[in-house]
Amino acid sequence: MSTSRIYLDNAATTKVDPNVLAEMLPYFSDKYGNASSPHSAGSEAREALEESRARVAALIGASPEEVIFTSGGTESDNLAIFGAAMKKGKGHIITSCIEHPAVLNSCEYLEKNGFQVTYAPADSDGIVKLDALERSIRPGTFLISVMQANNEIGSIQPIREISNLAKAKGILVHTDAVQSAGKIGIDVNSLGVDMLSMSSHKIHGPKGVGALFVKKGVQILPISRGGGHEKGLRSGTENVSGIVGFGAAARLAKESMGEMERVKKMRDRLMGGLLKVEDTLLNGSRTQRLPNNLNISFKFIEGEGLLLLLDAEGICVSTGSACSSKSLKPSHVLLAIGRSPEDAHGSLRLTLSKFNSDGEMGKVLDSVPRAVERLRSMSPFKSDSQMKQFSDKHATHEDDEHAGIH
Ligand SMILES: Cc1ncc(COP(=O)(O)O)c(C=O)c1O
Repeated sequence: MSTSRIYLDNAATTKVDPNVLAEMLPYFSDKYGNASSPHSAGSEAREALEESRARVAALIGASPEEVIFTSGGTESDNLAIFGAAMKKGKGHIITSCIEHPAVLNSCEYLEKNGFQVTYAPADSDGIVKLDALERSIRPGTFLISVMQANNEIGSIQPIREISNLAKAKGILVHTDAVQSAGKIGIDVNSLGVDMLSMSSHKIHGPKGVGALFVKKGVQILPISRGGGHEKGLRSGTENVSGIVGFGAAARLAKESMGEMERVKKMRDRLMGGLLKVEDTLLNGSRTQRLPNNLNISFKFIEGEGLLLLLDAEGICVSTGSACSSKSLKPSHVLLAIGRSPEDAHGSLRLTLSKFNSDGEMGKVLDSVPRAVERLRSMSPFKSDSQMKQFSDKHATHEDDEHAGIH
């Protein structure tokens, strides 16, 4: 990637930290043993695997034996949900309507196959409504799965409160911490969760590796079968180099958590500047929000057009609208917090990392308002009602799968 490019799509994926890469490289060339082999090359790989497990566990306050390595956040979510469902056999699951597709589509599949699912609503800040969630608990409820922080609007959920509700009734709690791990401090014990999903590529580690925290004593079934690796929960020869990268990224994230203060300052600068543009809406909470996330709807334009104009200026962002995410539907998260489809289509997500600089924020604060003005000057719509009339007329798309953005 060109070094002059300003990358503000860190919720989609992050740059591998050069220190992470340096730790990984020997595991492709010299130290390529299979961690299950009894010889010295195998034990070298096994040691690296266990060191990485300890590093990932330390990031979330878990014990190493509670960490199961997977291929990423999607697999971790699937293992938690299907693993708990298969162990139970039948019953009721509570999730929220703002989850990532890895959770939503898993729950919808179970719903079509004999389980009952409640999708708890969120308020206008994107925080899951605890009272509604509590009311939906019933005698067959065996699992609550609510994300710790939303990937689109960064809203941080009341997981500890959810765990307290669940614990009293013997219900398992899973949280998808793919976006929050490494950005806010996590302690699984004080959160009170039974399972927690993580992904390496969101914290400057390599893609295709993740982990599921499974609290000691919690019983789930595997979703794939084979040689019985990872305590029988995730068979398959371990991706040692990837796991080493994940471990290195987790260690760096823990050590450099203070960096998130600087990231938050840059994000706040962007937020203040971009909300000065006329006819904008902040999506998500001002306070209960990941330090690196900003999501704003610019009225009367398409986020898609804005994304392309910014890309032409070397600025990579994301949008909750349509085609960039291969779905013509507006973001289910933005609709769930009460945005109109038109405002959802005009959304822009900017997600920062420690590799961004203050100078870059200055450029973005110059480019985005100019791009918005340009698009608005070409837009035939100047009011909400004109936008709505047009989109009602052109609403054709029906697709029952959640494609979502990353
Ligand atoms: C909240 C959340 N959960 C799960 C995932 C899936 O993670 P992975 O890309 O590692 O499969 C993502 C990725 O965008 C995410 O943001």
